[in-house]
Amino acid sequence: MRAVGFDVNGGPEVLRAVELPVPEPGPGQVLIRVAYAGVNYGEVQHRLGDFGPPDGTDVPGLEVSGEIVALGPGVTGLALGDLVAAYLPDGGGYAEYAVAPADFAFPLDGISPRDGGGAALVLTTAYGVLAGAARLVPGDSVLIHAAAGGVGSAAAQIARALGAASVHGTVGGSGKADYAKRFGYDAVHTRDTFAERLRDIDIVLDPIGGPTRLASLDVLAPFGRLAVYGEAGRHPDLTLPVLPLWKNNRSLTGYNIGDLARRAPACLRSHALAALSLLASGAIRLDITTELPLDRAAEAHQALQSGTSRGKTLLAVRP
Ligand SMILES: NC(=O)c1ccc[n+]([C@@H]2O[C@H](COP(=O)([O-])OP(=O)(O)OC[C@H]3O[C@@H](n4cnc5c(N)ncnc54)[C@H](OP(=O)(O)O)[C@@H]3O)[C@@H](O)[C@H]2O)c1
Repeated sequence: MRAVGFDVNGGPEVLRAVELPVPEPGPGQVLIRVAYAGVNYGEVQHRLGDFGPPDGTDVPGLEVSGEIVALGPGVTGLALGDLVAAYLPDGGGYAEYAVAPADFAFPLDGISPRDGGGAALVLTTAYGVLAGAARLVPGDSVLIHAAAGGVGSAAAQIARALGAASVHGTVGGSGKADYAKRFGYDAVHTRDTFAERLRDIDIVLDPIGGPTRLASLDVLAPFGRLAVYGEAGRHPDLTLPVLPLWKNNRSLTGYNIGDLARRAPACLRSHALAALSLLASGAIRLDITTELPLDRAAEAHQALQSGTSRGKTLLAVRP
């Protein structure tokens, strides 16, 4: 089968077309003939080596849509021919065929294969950060960093659907603010100005780290939650004193979908189903701004790595 992978960590140029055997689904897994593969910042970090060196040829790709073409032993509730959106905890999505845990393969049920290709990781994460890590309740005020990105643009809409009273966003440069506003933000700020403009925010979603993370603590309301779920800025980790947390009624919380996949798969699954039903009902939408053929994955990575991408980027594998 055709795939795109890398043998060494490095820039987008290390991604190359490869021919690999079609993987076989193990117990509890399904084999998917991939229609679309989502492109995510986590895959850029995978390629750069933030999660370690490749094990032979690594094929990135954490989410796909497509048709189930084989079932591993013990799989129930899914059938050959089902169209699904799937989260792939071990990657492998930039390929004509990919293996997914059956627990994380969700019938499309009214969602197009195109939307499904960019949904399973992104929407599950956005929903899980808000509802799971940050415990959003109706009436909360929410601030979302990287507001125009894949997760950010979905999180703004999901926050509204869950009853947020106000939703603010930040972007790295002013050029993205107008784009982000279409997702229902009350206001979108540039990242260097939000701290002086905002106060008493119940929930801050932070996938950036570094100075943005530190400044975010200061805008929290009493019992506010700073939900940390990424390191897009690739800053060194922070060392924070604990005293200001209780002195200022602040909470720090974290979200990691890979950890949930290992330790709380039922929780991940319930977040995914809730988020996908919002997509199917039209309550939220994915804004697919870029669609490229599989062999142009490096271009998609270049845009994500340079911070110039907006909304959701897809690879059309076998649309
Ligand atoms: N914890 C989890 O389980 C989990 C799961 C999925 C995704 N994530 C995280 O969620 C975040 C968003 O993921 P995504 O795939 O939707 O990406 P994305 O938001 O579409 O793209 C990443 C964005 O990060 C911002 N950014 C800040 N500093 C950057 C830098 N030095 N280089 C490049 N971009 C920078 C840019 O937005 P601005 O221009 O607005 O700065 C950029 O557009 C990522 O941090 C990702 O790792 C975490």
